[in-house]
Amino acid sequence: MSIRFHLNGELNQESSISPSTTVLDYLRLIQMATGTKEGCAEGDCGACSVVLHSRDDNNKPKYEVVNSCLLLLSQIDGANLITVEGLGSNGVLDAVQEAMIEKGGTQCGFCTPGFVMSLYSLRQTSKKTLDDDIIHDALAGNLCRCTGYRPIVEAAYKACAFGPTDDFPDLEALEVTEQQHFEDELVFSPTSLDELLRLKINYPDGLLLAGGTDLGLRASKNRERFKVIIHTAHVTELTKIEETDDSLEIGAAVTYSESLENITRAYPSFGRLITRIGSRQIRNMGTIGGNIGTASPIGDTLPCLISLNASFEIVSEGSSRAERAEDFFIDYRETSLNPTEIIKKIKLPKLKKNQQFRVYKISKRYDQDISSVVAAFLVEIENDVVVGFRATFGGMAAIPKRASECEKVLLGKEWSEENMLMVGKAVEKDFVPLSDHRASSNYRLKVAANLFLRLYRDLSDQEDLLEVVAF
Ligand SMILES: Cc1cc2nc3c(=O)[nH]c(=O)nc-3n(C[C@H](O)[C@H](O)[C@H](O)COP(=O)(O)OP(=O)(O)OC[C@H]3O[C@@H](n4cnc5c(N)ncnc54)[C@H](O)[C@@H]3O)c2cc1C
Ligand code: FES
Ligand code: FES
Repeated sequence: MSIRFHLNGELNQESSISPSTTVLDYLRLIQMATGTKEGCAEGDCGACSVVLHSRDDNNKPKYEVVNSCLLLLSQIDGANLITVEGLGSNGVLDAVQEAMIEKGGTQCGFCTPGFVMSLYSLRQTSKKTLDDDIIHDALAGNLCRCTGYRPIVEAAYKACAFGPTDDFPDLEALEVTEQQHFEDELVFSPTSLDELLRLKINYPDGLLLAGGTDLGLRASKNRERFKVIIHTAHVTELTKIEETDDSLEIGAAVTYSESLENITRAYPSFGRLITRIGSRQIRNMGTIGGNIGTASPIGDTLPCLISLNASFEIVSEGSSRAERAEDFFIDYRETSLNPTEIIKKIKLPKLKKNQQFRVYKISKRYDQDISSVVAAFLVEIENDVVVGFRATFGGMAAIPKRASECEKVLLGKEWSEENMLMVGKAVEKDFVPLSDHRASSNYRLKVAANLFLRLYRDLSDQEDLLEVVAF
């Protein structure tokens, strides 16, 4: 079966191209649609930004900006892909393009199509009154080296004042192609968990692909072709969010953007961390399930899940088990999953009375940067005494890991600055971090120790002079 999708509203069908081709290569080399640019080819610069248009359950249009350099052709099956060539109609530019010209938002122009697509997605989705923070967040995944951002931000204000438009009101929704093949490559897009689990039995080495923000790099940078891909994005059971008074359950294929509201409501600090994962382009594709599957020692959500005592529902055909997040990671990028198992959902207990949660991400840049250290703390204080304490660090060991010595030192002690300084000294008993290009071992130890103090000041509502802020 071939891949079917709309490109700027026009039906396209491709059967003679590898499904592992990136959408960026497809646009530039096959469609000769060269408005979409290639900069870094690894999700960092935004030059390749395109918009995926779909409809939500209430038939409202969605316009999600994504990086075409990380997106595989097989991922756009059934979608409507909007590129810069598709904006405006009958020779009339889109409001975003007009505003970029009028405000002088472009000089060399290389980054411009990417900015235009990010702003187009913002114009189509911004409900609230705009402010600088919303615009900066929308543009954090786009780099411009020569215009400077002020005129681009001004263009954003002007274009968004125009408001959203339904640009494809009559577009027929396409069914997802459940199986695609090209030469020796096979791609499956199951829609139910049963089908997915059967595929995992038949193809235990098949590559599970959720958002592809990690796996896409292998196609983009290494030019790899994948023999068997199994997409999880269309599996109903994996794309649900369920919330009760006691718990929040997030399907493994729910994207960061989709889970942001629920996570922020239950754990505001975790929500702020999510907004610092990659860029909006990355968050529109990437999933917590993928972050767990990657099992990176610097995966940002993992210390949060461990400190919050989350568990994963892990399933294979005919069996299901619950695994605590802290037992799941065994060694560097090694997990307890066997080849026929998948992560179905992540179950997070809600905070109890007296419990507070904070997470701090230390990186060289505020936006769009990988962490040097992440620290997630769950603290329970009664009558000024610490009766519960879970501290988990990322970037300090081969896996995200609890600081058990530090926890022991603080438990049962008075909640005081002196005691937090003492806890910080125990960090060296818990970790022997590596030095790499992000941070030295010594820096990591110092910063981890200081984060206990920061936690104290943060929860004590003291002015925090160490707070890193975005400008
Ligand atoms: C530019 C850029 C910036 C980034 N910034 C950050 C950042 O700030 N913080 C951070 O933590 N990460 C960051 N990442 C990494 C990446 O975005 C995250 O790890 C993301 O959560 C991966 O999710 P995904 O859905 O895209 O995973 P995919 O690439 O689809 O999959 C990743 C792995 O998980 C496995 N997997 C997926 N779903 C399941 C499942 N249901 N069961 C079992 N295994 C599964 C896959 O087989 C694969 O091995 C960044 C990546 C890029 C390219
Ligand atoms: S080319 Fe840089 S983000 Fe895709
Ligand atoms: S206009 Fe030249 S890089 Fe942005």
